[in-house]
Amino acid sequence: MCGIIGYIGSKEATPILLEGLKKLEYRGYDSSGVGVCSAKDGKIIVRKAQGKIRHLEDLIKSHPITHATTGISHTRWATHGAPSHRNSHPHCDVKQTIAVVHNGIIENYQELRQELQKKGVKFVSETDTEVVGHLVAEYFKGDLVKAVQKAIGRVRGAFAFGVICSADPNLLVAARVGSPLIIGIGKGENFIASDVPAILDKTKRVIYLKDGEMAALTRDDVKIWKFDGKPVTPKIDTVTFTVGSAQKEGYPHFMLKEIHEQPHVLAQMIKSRIKNDHVVLDGIGLSDNQLKSIKNIYIVACGTAYHAGMVGKYLIEKIAGIPVVVDAASEFRYREPILQKNTLILSVSQSGETADTLAAVRDARARGAKAITICNAVGSSLVRESDGVLYTHAGPEIGVASTKAYTAQIGMLYLFALKLGELHKKLSDQERHKIIKEFKHIPSLYKTILQQKEHVAQIAKKKFRFGCFLFLGRNVNYPSALEGALKLKEISYIPAEGYAAGEMKHGPIALIDEYRAVVCIAPQSEVYEKMISNIQEIRARKGKITAIATEGDKDISKHADYVIYIPKIDPLLTPLLVAIPLQLIAYYIAVNLGCDVDQPRNLAKSVTVE
Ligand code: F6R
Repeated sequence: MCGIIGYIGSKEATPILLEGLKKLEYRGYDSSGVGVCSAKDGKIIVRKAQGKIRHLEDLIKSHPITHATTGISHTRWATHGAPSHRNSHPHCDVKQTIAVVHNGIIENYQELRQELQKKGVKFVSETDTEVVGHLVAEYFKGDLVKAVQKAIGRVRGAFAFGVICSADPNLLVAARVGSPLIIGIGKGENFIASDVPAILDKTKRVIYLKDGEMAALTRDDVKIWKFDGKPVTPKIDTVTFTVGSAQKEGYPHFMLKEIHEQPHVLAQMIKSRIKNDHVVLDGIGLSDNQLKSIKNIYIVACGTAYHAGMVGKYLIEKIAGIPVVVDAASEFRYREPILQKNTLILSVSQSGETADTLAAVRDARARGAKAITICNAVGSSLVRESDGVLYTHAGPEIGVASTKAYTAQIGMLYLFALKLGELHKKLSDQERHKIIKEFKHIPSLYKTILQQKEHVAQIAKKKFRFGCFLFLGRNVNYPSALEGALKLKEISYIPAEGYAAGEMKHGPIALIDEYRAVVCIAPQSEVYEKMISNIQEIRARKGKITAIATEGDKDISKHADYVIYIPKIDPLLTPLLVAIPLQLIAYYIAVNLGCDVDQPRNLAKSVTVE
């Protein structure tokens, strides 16, 4: 979704803003813009361009901006109004004395727009954001902080704002409700940004602005208030990501780099979360007694995180014997689920900012439920709004298609299931010992699977022209089939369906003919034979099969056109392993098709609007 970076310091702002915008490209956008306070003539200068940031750079090369050390900038992902020059941010008031960048949605913008139009204000865009520029200008009586505060009092919805004003070029004002915003603390310079990677090469000292807070930044100072004017003492955190973690480091795409980071992510998780054969879940926020009293669990999540949650259902029910319902957060929030006294809400999210997941958690907590989040982004909204957090610490995920965050979520769900299994006395010491031993092998098994990437690349070469894919799996790998299909469609745009293999006969089998590519997830497990029956049914109808199977399974190659092997492991752990071939299949097919793997069309990394 939209990205924000703002700068105030003693250097030229424009190059810093452009650099920062490039680091936010992964969030997904369709236009971009910068607005700066010019010290030369006391004016606000704005440059905007539709399309990629290089178009904005070209524009600035031909129309340079100098002598401006305070500025804001934005990548826009269209919500209100088409992607276009006039709808891109920053938006200004009529006299161009105020400029605003905004992430989120202003719900009452129509009524504010009409009110301002009645006063003679001429609007130039179709956006919800433009009202803010005009409102701030209307309330501005020499104090930008007060004007922003008054304007905020009029708007409803979700927002992160950055605001500058020509009358006070040494001030940058920011505010947030719902949409994330951080403040970066530098030496003689300060920043605002919607996400850490934008400023990671400038500073690692950040303040996570909370909902209902606004900030005034000068070169040397940051002041924070609640919207009602009450001062807040800022808490400065130090980000642990390295600059390298937000760069490609020799890989052609972030997605491929992140696929390769999975052994490291799981190894770190094992190192920090397993001590003396016990699972340690620091941060979980609930006492052992509270965890023992859990009677049922709702997992809420969206997209890939929802698929991880589906795997979690199999794990928790099997290992801990606690009933689990998995809901797409967008469904949960509107269907009035029945929450009991000891119901736990477990949200799963990479960004911690997904609007539907956040709303589902808020709703459940308002009704008395306890909520734990499995989250990657430190200090995100979901973390703040939950009773406890299990950080996956997968590092920044820049590729829009989730890879390492997904396996880290499954890993954490596995550990959570083990913890509950232990507390609910469903798991003997011996069983726990055996499972933990297997789990510890995952990082080295990942390396073995990744060694086959050339083999997967060759399969992708043969398959990328197929117009439609079907992914089939059973039991704990049914969610893997859904995730395999999602990965392929989001980065290659090839229609793909994931299905529970047992459901094939009830409809999807009609799709099968010689033009259909089918990926069958068939590792050794109690449902292996059933998968083989499905494979035979597909073969009988000339479908083209790629199987993911367990090393040593020679028989399967008799039925499938191609086989990708994963090492032998406890069947419950197979979703962690099959994820890698599925990610690689999607990746190489998309590369063969010449798709923009890291920034697929129409997608946003963090979906902060409903
Ligand atoms: C797909 C993908 C999305 C996200 C979904 C939830 O590759 O990345 O489906 O999984 O938008 O996002 P988070 O995990 O940030 O809540």
